Amino acid sequence: MSETGKFYVTTPIYYPSDKLHIGHTYCTVATDAIARYHRLKGEQVLFLTGTDEHGQKIEDKARQAGLTPKEFVDRIVEGPRGVRELWKLMNISNDRFIRTTDDYHVQSIQYIFRKMHDNGDIYKGVYRGKYCKPCESFWTDSQLKDGCCPDCGRPVADAQEEAYFFRLSKYADRVRDLLEHTDFLEPRSRVNEMVKNFLDPGLEDLCVSRTSFTWGIPVDFDPGHVVYVWVDALSNYITALGYGNDRYHDYDQGWWPGVNIVGKEIVRFHAIIWPAMLMSLGEPVPKKVFGHGWLLLDGGKMSKSKGNVVDPYLLAERFGVDALRFFLMRTFPFGADGSFSNELLIQTINTDLANDLGNLVSRTTAMVGKYFDGTLPGGCREWEQPQTCDRQLREQAAGLRERYRQAMDAYAPHRALEEVFALIQRANKYIDETMPWALAKDLPGSAPRLAHVLYNLLEATRLCGILLTPFMPQSMDKLFGQIGVSPQQRTWDSAGAWGGLSETAAVAKGENLFPRVDVEQALAELERAEQVAQGSGKPPVEVEPQLTQPVDFDTFCRSDFRAVKVKDCQRVKKSEKLLCFTLDDGTGTDRQILSGIAKYYQPEQLVGKTLVAIVNLPPRKMMGLESNGMLISAVHTQDGEERLNLIMVDDAIPAGAKLC
Ligand code: MSP
Repeated sequence: MSETGKFYVTTPIYYPSDKLHIGHTYCTVATDAIARYHRLKGEQVLFLTGTDEHGQKIEDKARQAGLTPKEFVDRIVEGPRGVRELWKLMNISNDRFIRTTDDYHVQSIQYIFRKMHDNGDIYKGVYRGKYCKPCESFWTDSQLKDGCCPDCGRPVADAQEEAYFFRLSKYADRVRDLLEHTDFLEPRSRVNEMVKNFLDPGLEDLCVSRTSFTWGIPVDFDPGHVVYVWVDALSNYITALGYGNDRYHDYDQGWWPGVNIVGKEIVRFHAIIWPAMLMSLGEPVPKKVFGHGWLLLDGGKMSKSKGNVVDPYLLAERFGVDALRFFLMRTFPFGADGSFSNELLIQTINTDLANDLGNLVSRTTAMVGKYFDGTLPGGCREWEQPQTCDRQLREQAAGLRERYRQAMDAYAPHRALEEVFALIQRANKYIDETMPWALAKDLPGSAPRLAHVLYNLLEATRLCGILLTPFMPQSMDKLFGQIGVSPQQRTWDSAGAWGGLSETAAVAKGENLFPRVDVEQALAELERAEQVAQGSGKPPVEVEPQLTQPVDFDTFCRSDFRAVKVKDCQRVKKSEKLLCFTLDDGTGTDRQILSGIAKYYQPEQLVGKTLVAIVNLPPRKMMGLESNGMLISAVHTQDGEERLNLIMVDDAIPAGAKLC
């Protein structure tokens, strides 16, 4: 049966200080697959992701880049190859995207801080301790590892300043109870880590404001202070529902509590500080915090500083979005760490997608086409005397949806996929056992049995297709098109029973859904693409598409291009765009050309330069001045901005020289 409950699920909001890598993508793709699974079951889903944009590190990085912090984060969040674009590319189905710089969030944070202050849980004191700038984390001496930050291993600095504190210690017992006696935090191993590392040594009150930098949300009743980034960031899960603001109203409509999916290094914030904040606010704690593992590279955490970032754009472009999504979910047990490598990615694509699933689909559709012209006869759904292989295929399919459901509900997408692939493998074995090509030799007499065998294969494929949809939505759409599955035959309900596919569905072998990847070639291509991306370090340049309509040669030759030397250049009064050029065009009489390029050049920069102009255009009046020709420039778009460069030629080329 379809479920009708509300399911609210979140990813951690991405911190835009470094480039997004495949580890961030892992977390977001997993949450997306979980959200899509709940939608498939018929639940109402609200899926939130976003960006966590405040803090000293962003302020520092922006300064280094010569930008304001807001310009800096805007570029990374909204710009080309930024956060939003990556989630769009990866087909992430979030319903909402929060930025902690959004006005409504700022308003809510001030409300939350004030509320905790007014109820006595936030008080003023002096902060003395250690601060890890890259992690934006305060540590006590006892928490340091070899004197360094226990999360990233980097040195910490002494810090002392007037600050507000949150009475975290007051909530220690309630948080311990929550962790030890409920299934609030999973996997269970993370509970032990939290208890041993943080609760057993004793929870200290938490410093929740800073005065030494300004890029944060000001405490409205004490504006010299900005709210500690984690208080700001964690609250996003409720501010995005309208808690403390008028922008949304979902909080009051029962969307909270939700499920917070997070990476293991930030479980501490989500499983201790976050529930304590909610307790202080008198609000319910999350339904669940799930702490997934890391994708490791060469045995270590991915990070830009280690120079081993794996670019999700490059991987998705080379292998396809769905193949990448699938690989991430199929290969690594969700709660544990896993070692990422390009070889493993290619191997998974070739084995599971090209061999197992791809072959099942292409062989089955090809045979339905070859033996029955793409449509099976009616009456082929059941077979009076099923053979052992028929029974085994049906049995394996029968419990699949339930096994899949259990795995997905336990946040084990890798196990759910394992179940689906067990049926795919069984179906491929069924082809070998039933040998449809041998049956086809006895046509037309063998037609009923052959049609039944092919129906079974199509039906097994349909069931797998439905359950694979949360992981590979676009490819499954194509697959359903090939095996003739209507939208009503793609639902969760219809995945629960054998025989949902129409017997006479129109089957058509289509494009190969998952082409085999040549390992050596793909690795070499990836390496080259990575070198290009790293070498330039710049977003790609966009140029206008070339015109394909030919221009006849004589027409082209009638255009008179000349080298022209700039004698004078002035801004045109009352125009923001126009520059007025006085040019030596070799005729002995000055030529005047107006050009709309004031935004790109200062007039004085151009005096003395030799440019290129087309000189036989009819005269044109602009702002009361006559323009006799047009200067030629090159245009392209970079970083979302249009750039323009006048074509300048060597001084050795005299004014008036014809260009041909
Ligand atoms: N801004 C905080 C989250 C605040 S949530 C209230 C943050 N941001 S992050 O950009 O550093 O990380 C975003 C997510 O990506 C985190 O869940 C983190 O664990 C995850 N990952 C970052 N690197 C990862 C891997 N190498 N592997 C798997 N997940 C990783 O933390």
